Amino acid sequence: MTSEWFTASAPGKFVILGEHAVVYGKPAIVLAIDLRIAVSIRRSGRNLINGDHVDFRRQPHLRYLTRDVNHALEFMTSSDIPVGSGLGSSAALSAALGLALSHQRGAPLGEKELVEEAYNAELFAQGIGSPMDASACVHGGGISVNLPNATGEHLWTVTRGDRTWDVHDIEAPDMTFVIGSTGIKAPTGPLVAKVRRYRDRSQFAVDITDDIEQVTIQGGQALARNDVEELGRMMTEDHKLLSILGVSCRELNKMVNAALPYSYGAKLTGAGGGGCMVALTDEPDKVCKAIRSRGGTPYIVKTGVPGAMFHPDPE
Ligand code: MEV
Repeated sequence: MTSEWFTASAPGKFVILGEHAVVYGKPAIVLAIDLRIAVSIRRSGRNLINGDHVDFRRQPHLRYLTRDVNHALEFMTSSDIPVGSGLGSSAALSAALGLALSHQRGAPLGEKELVEEAYNAELFAQGIGSPMDASACVHGGGISVNLPNATGEHLWTVTRGDRTWDVHDIEAPDMTFVIGSTGIKAPTGPLVAKVRRYRDRSQFAVDITDDIEQVTIQGGQALARNDVEELGRMMTEDHKLLSILGVSCRELNKMVNAALPYSYGAKLTGAGGGGCMVALTDEPDKVCKAIRSRGGTPYIVKTGVPGAMFHPDPE
């Protein structure tokens, strides 16, 4: 007898403003994108992932999420989200797998519970971080985190130690974003740890995260009044501040500079160190060409996409 498959999917995301500073409770604005991961699981005689043995030491997210499962599992994954690219691949995996497992247990998690589960998996895997990626991948659409005067629906509050993150839904106006991937994999944990060490020893780094907070607040106000020019300026300003924090790299800077003549603004997105940049533009073809000319891979992304969802078996 073969066991029933349980399938769920979740979107990737990009950060318009506020990455890294959000780890310290500062505001951020994030949109989910039309690149998704789907995960299917079923009870099995052996632990397998896409037909291969599962090495749980190399798969900390899987190890955390299956901590209470007392039988072997077969996992099948299919993903459009490049791994280690700052587009939320690990948070999307955690959200989709957490949701599929909860359906298999017969106790489907609600959005807030799923955020906690996916965020704990991220913390287990990377040590430090905010619940921003988990929130965006679970909710979909757009979210703001700790943004003052947020007008959208309050979704949830996540607390760890003395830090609190208030997450609200945001209605983003229709805008065109082009993402450029450097193709360089850059795991989030070490980059977040690098910024933490810098902040621990330097007031200057603390001041830079405060400046990112101001830029994010100003960008949030621009977004609310549909002012793409000001929002773009804040994105470019944020890139400069993130570069000073030491999380950009030559390839990202080259792609940001190549995109800027055709964009309202451009910046690295996610943890940096490689991964991706994003440009806000109404000339997407020219931006794609500029990104390609610097060796990157462009994606014109769609936003306004659904969050984590369970896909019932058609039978
Ligand atoms: C990574 O997408 C975003 C960071 O701010 C880390 C985090 O918030 O956990 C760099």
